[in-house]
Amino acid sequence: MTTVASRTRTQVAVVGGGPAGLMLSHLLHRARVETVVVDHRTVHEIETTQRAGMLEPDSVRLLAETGVYANGQKRVLTEGDRHGGIYLRFDGESHRVDFEDLVGACVWLYPQTEVFVDLHRARTRDDGDLRYGISATAVHDVADGPRVSYRDAEGAPHEITADLVVGADGSHSICRDLVPEHRRHHREYPFAWFAILCEAPKSAPELIYARSDRGFALITQRTESVQRMYFQCDPAEDTAAWSDDRIWSELQARLAGPDGFTLKEGPVIERTVLPFRSFVQTPLSGGRLLLAGDAAHTVPPTGAKGLNLALADARVLAEVVERALATRDLGVLSDYEDRALARVWKAQQFSYWMTTMLHRADGTTDFDEQRQRSELAGLVASRAGSTYLAEGYTGWPNT
Ligand code: PHB
Repeated sequence: MTTVASRTRTQVAVVGGGPAGLMLSHLLHRARVETVVVDHRTVHEIETTQRAGMLEPDSVRLLAETGVYANGQKRVLTEGDRHGGIYLRFDGESHRVDFEDLVGACVWLYPQTEVFVDLHRARTRDDGDLRYGISATAVHDVADGPRVSYRDAEGAPHEITADLVVGADGSHSICRDLVPEHRRHHREYPFAWFAILCEAPKSAPELIYARSDRGFALITQRTESVQRMYFQCDPAEDTAAWSDDRIWSELQARLAGPDGFTLKEGPVIERTVLPFRSFVQTPLSGGRLLLAGDAAHTVPPTGAKGLNLALADARVLAEVVERALATRDLGVLSDYEDRALARVWKAQQFSYWMTTMLHRADGTTDFDEQRQRSELAGLVASRAGSTYLAEGYTGWPNT
């Protein structure tokens, strides 16, 4: 038998300490269920990686009302930015979709990195067992007695035994391969997003989703002096080939129009190409292993749904896990499947729809362009059409 530096027994071992894993651990702690969270990234790595971050009202409530903060400060409310709508821009004109008027809801721009910081502080405040910066994570015996093994930063082996294992280990999940007889449903897109962070003032009070003949662009924000912007690009695009000038002229060209709108420019401080796909794995569980967040499903970022889905998974999963452990009946875990997947597929449809409505596909014909413009024009002219977008963007009722 190999000598292990430590053996820990817990109720739920959570692989992945991003928003899905930490939120689950936080909610289970409130329900007096013990968890151990492991993640191969360091806290610093997670805190410094830019991610999207538009929160639905239900996500904001989950953070604010379950005590996801430290020092009594609900940062999501004090530092998040409340947005009552978005702009759709096409043919060089912006059209506001007013969520408050259409569905009586708004969204909050509060990046995922901040959500992580809050969750991490809350778990640390509550003495959560969080193990970041580990390596060689492996999950064993998911059918009966699950175990998670890993090596710490010094290379020493450790082992955790648990009643259940949750794979919240993101889009490169190692856990999802362990679900027996799984199916993968996916769609690839022939484009990616070129993402930048720049030092500049805001160009608009709310987000702008722009369709142009040169392809899609999204103008979003971080602070008064730092902004985030994206434009559709080739998945193989090389960021080194893009000087600040080239980036700005491409973005300006995609936003230009007869109304004279221009973006406020500034130094580009980060540039990345983001992959783009739609993906769902079913079932979401097998034996004593369950999947949550990006490990189970990925959406294109156009609908701003990824983080919201991860938090919604954690909410439903916490409830179901608590019940399964209290009743010692693993059968109740199937409830998670039904409830989580209903939302996941709605979000897949919504994200796919937003993506295809706004992006330029390879081989686009004149017919395709006219049809796409007509779809957007019809949507902003119709209260019913705009309401469909507003409902999807602000999120669907809890399942
Ligand atoms: C972001 O602020 O990074 C962001 C917002 C909305 C999206 C995607 C990204 O749809």
